[in-house]
Amino acid sequence: MERAREWLRGASTIVALTGAGISAESGIPTFRGSGGLWREFRPEELATPQAFARDPKLVWEWYFWRRGLIAAAEPNAGHYALAELEARTPHFTLVTQNVDGLHDRAGSRNILKVHGDIWIVRCLACGRESLDKRLEFPETPPRCECGGTLRPGVVWFGEMLPPDVWMAAERACVEAEAMVVAGTSAVVYPAAALAPLAKSAGARVIEVNPEATPLSGLVDCSLRGKAAEILPELVA
Ligand code: OAD
Repeated sequence: MERAREWLRGASTIVALTGAGISAESGIPTFRGSGGLWREFRPEELATPQAFARDPKLVWEWYFWRRGLIAAAEPNAGHYALAELEARTPHFTLVTQNVDGLHDRAGSRNILKVHGDIWIVRCLACGRESLDKRLEFPETPPRCECGGTLRPGVVWFGEMLPPDVWMAAERACVEAEAMVVAGTSAVVYPAAALAPLAKSAGARVIEVNPEATPLSGLVDCSLRGKAAEILPELVA
């Protein structure tokens, strides 16, 4: 822990990568592991463009359920610790796979949402994206002003990540002197490639996770524990 704290104190360029585990203590279920969403639901029925084409109502109902969970949740000490780290670091980038917006609510500013944002809707017809925080729509699937079908503004399996966001994430990793990876199983690509990229470009990589992941053997320091407990200590 002390070594990792020194690396963060000594670095002027830091990148953090977060996954579902950082929001676990806010009461939002992760995808994998016990209680994970992919234990109960099949991703191919809910999180692919084919699933949406087949049954947009079912997919939206699942997203409405998740929107409700997220709307009722609050950021936790892990989210706040990363916002604090950003405030004291000259160049800080937060790359998150989470779509829940809890980092925004905790005060993080320079956020790259590589898997999109659950509060954004995008029209399949005109392509327009907008912020829409409603928990219910007059019809399901909801419609755009142009009459087209709206979809959640998230990245589904088989889809490309937004190229500009992805390129910025890669750049942040290459430039970073230190990296914090918190709450991700590191099995979903391309996001899982970011920590190895930062490491090979010379960053000190610190992992925060109660369990070992495929990254654990590669990182400079593996801190086993919950993000809401470890991150505040790490940045104190
Ligand atoms: P996962 O659900 O795959 O992994 C969650 C990780 O968080 C696991 O490694 C847990 O050990 C860890 N974890 C659990 N509780 C924690 C806590 N309190 N503090 C810290 N870590 C904790 O979530 P992601 O890695 O984010 O993609 O999943 C990546 C992507 O797979 C998601 O963005 C989503 C999903 O399918 C799409 O939907 C495209």
